[in-house]
Amino acid sequence: MRRFTIVVHGGAGPLPSEERGRAAAAGCLQTARIGHRILAEGGSALEAVQAACVALEDDPLFNAGTGSCLNEEGRIEMDAAIMEGTTRRVGAVAAITRVKNPVLVARRVMDRGRHVLLAGEGADRFAREEGFAPYPPALLVTAAALQRWQREREGKIPPRPGTVGAVAIDQEGRVAAATSTGGTSGKAPGRIGDSPIPGAGLYAHDAAGAVSATGQGEAILRGVLSRHICDRMAAGIPAQQAVEEGIRELARLGGEGGAIAVDREGRAGFASNTPFMSWAMIDADGQESSGYRCRLP
Ligand code: GLY
Repeated sequence: MRRFTIVVHGGAGPLPSEERGRAAAAGCLQTARIGHRILAEGGSALEAVQAACVALEDDPLFNAGTGSCLNEEGRIEMDAAIMEGTTRRVGAVAAITRVKNPVLVARRVMDRGRHVLLAGEGADRFAREEGFAPYPPALLVTAAALQRWQREREGKIPPRPGTVGAVAIDQEGRVAAATSTGGTSGKAPGRIGDSPIPGAGLYAHDAAGAVSATGQGEAILRGVLSRHICDRMAAGIPAQQAVEEGIRELARLGGEGGAIAVDREGRAGFASNTPFMSWAMIDADGQESSGYRCRLP
C-alpha cells in the first residue's frame, strides 16, 4: 500500500481578520477530512479531491460556488476544473453561472471525454443537458460577497482574488487535482482566470504529483504555474521545494498567490507569497495540520 495524502486550500490573498483566518483554516480541515476518509477506505484520489472541492464550494466562507465574488456587473461567473494523473484526463468549465457545484460539471465534461473545457452559455447548457438542476444565481450570492463588492466599488478595499482547491495521492499511487473559483472580484464579464486551465490552475501526473494554484490568475496563467511545479516534482524535487520554487517564479512575474502539491512519494507542500493562505493536510497516519498564515520561507 502506498502512502496516501490529501491537501486542500481555501485561497490566498491579504490577511483578513484573525477570526476569519481561523474559520477558513477550520473549514479547510473539515474538508480535508472528507477527502481523507475516501482515501482511507481505498477510494481514488479523483473522488477525494472532487468531494473536498464540493464541500469547499458549498461553504459560503470561500470564493467558489456559494460565496463566489461578483464581477463588475454584480454577477457571478465561476470557473472550475478537475484532473487525474494516470491518463491525464481533465474536464473544466469557465464563466458558468447557473449551477451549485461547478466542479461536478467539470467532472462530467471529463467523463464525457468529447471536450476539455466548456465556457459561458455552452457550459450552462451542457449542465442542463446532463441533468444538473438549474440553480438560481441569487442563491450563490452571500451577504458578505455583496458587501465586499459594494466596498470595492467605493474604493474602500482592494479587489480580492481567491480560489479553492484540493490535491491527493491514493493508496494505488494515483494523483488528482481540483480547483474552483468565483475568480477575482470586480472582474470584467467573460474574464476567465487560471483555475479552469490545465497547467495553470491545476495539474496532475502520476509520474510527478498534483498541484492546485490560487491567487492572481493572470500571472498564474503567464507562468503556467501548476505545470511548472509538476515539472520540478517529476525531476525528483520534493513537493515543498517544488512549490516554493514555483511561487518564486510567480513573484518574478509580478504575481501574488500560492499553491499546494503532493508528489509521487506522498510528500505534501504548500507556499504563498501572500500573507494569507488557508490550507489543511492529512497524511496516511491520520496526522492533521492546518493554518492560514502562509508566507514563502
Ligand atoms: N486564481 C483565481 C483567478 O484568478 O480567477
